[in-house]
Amino acid sequence: MNKFPHDFFWGASTSAHQVEGGNLHNDWWLAEQGGSLREASGQACRHYDLFKEDFAIAKELGHNCHRFSIEWSRIEPQEGEFQPFEIEHYHKVIAELRRLGIEPVVTLHHFTNPVWFSRKGGWVDSGLQRYFLSFVEKIVSEFCGEVKFWITINEPLVYSSHSYLLGVWPPQERSLSKTARVTLNMARAHIKAYRIIHDIYRRRGLARPMVSIAANLQAFEPCRPTLKNKLAVYLRDKLYNFYFIEELLRRKSLDYIGLNYYSRNLADVESWGIRHLLLDTCKYNHHPLRKNSLGWDIYPQGIYKLLIALKRYGLPVLITENGICTEDDALRWDYIREHLQMVHRSMQEGVNVLGYIYWSLIDNFEWDKGFGPRFGLVDIDYRDQKRTIRPSAKKLSEVFKTGLI
Ligand code: GAL
Repeated sequence: MNKFPHDFFWGASTSAHQVEGGNLHNDWWLAEQGGSLREASGQACRHYDLFKEDFAIAKELGHNCHRFSIEWSRIEPQEGEFQPFEIEHYHKVIAELRRLGIEPVVTLHHFTNPVWFSRKGGWVDSGLQRYFLSFVEKIVSEFCGEVKFWITINEPLVYSSHSYLLGVWPPQERSLSKTARVTLNMARAHIKAYRIIHDIYRRRGLARPMVSIAANLQAFEPCRPTLKNKLAVYLRDKLYNFYFIEELLRRKSLDYIGLNYYSRNLADVESWGIRHLLLDTCKYNHHPLRKNSLGWDIYPQGIYKLLIALKRYGLPVLITENGICTEDDALRWDYIREHLQMVHRSMQEGVNVLGYIYWSLIDNFEWDKGFGPRFGLVDIDYRDQKRTIRPSAKKLSEVFKTGLI
């Protein structure tokens, strides 16, 4: 048996648009009404109203931290018009977590943008970051007394690539140059947000906050060991996994690294050219592995390899997402157990891991894939919003309560 440290953070994650329901003022909602996406988020899990019920379940399952996002478009549905009522809502959310002894980990941008911001040009236009920064300033001034862990932007590269390269998320564009611009603008916005957040805490005489991004890292492996495939892995590691983090480190704007890890990416490049080198994957299921319900490979070694790679940066790592969508709950438990074993192994080899936050606490709206994929520790019956704790959640809660895996 392996034992985790007694002060380890154990929890689960959600994001506002995926669970709250009724996020009328963001670009996703608009696109959902336009019909270019599989499903509309609608009432989602009604977590906006039912958060106390959901947190009670987290508490019962032994969670001592919880990651969620504050929805910018609720707080500022029109430019400059901040809504006291919605700010109050998130005060209640955080107060409830604190009452239960659950540490909040708060994300400020999780893929959605207010419609007014995207209409102006969104993240493509470098002049518009100031709008995000004024939202950050407002929120952090409000919540600095209640929150220590901040995530400015969730998965900047997933956002830029899905929205501007693959064209599957709003605004559904396919442009390499816009993808690069959005990524760069998000890096700049994070660096400025980091300074804003630290300044607020300093001015108020509060203890230093912990600020990071949540970076989605993938375990890139070559399918056949050809030159093209090896080059692809090298480039993907460099550009997708590490470049963004290294830029932020260079600008001294990370207090820890938020790691989101799900799967392996088996590079099999058909021809030369940057799009192929960056995107082609094996289509023939060479080197088959167990898969989640979206067909992603289950590859626990990947989290170990990435944690070991992150060690060189000398910062603590918080696993801000790791999880599986599946109809087979026994497979969910295998996934979690095997990943935790790998996390523990990396810690024995000197990686400073602060905690493990599963994705997700409850089933939810999986973006362009709709409500089909089931990532939750807790099942949601969308007909009546009934919550049912899955067996895997109970097994995981034993780990959370004993620290043993
Ligand atoms: C992450 C994302 C989450 C969730 C998860 C499962 O990339 O941050 O919002 O959708 O993937 O696919």
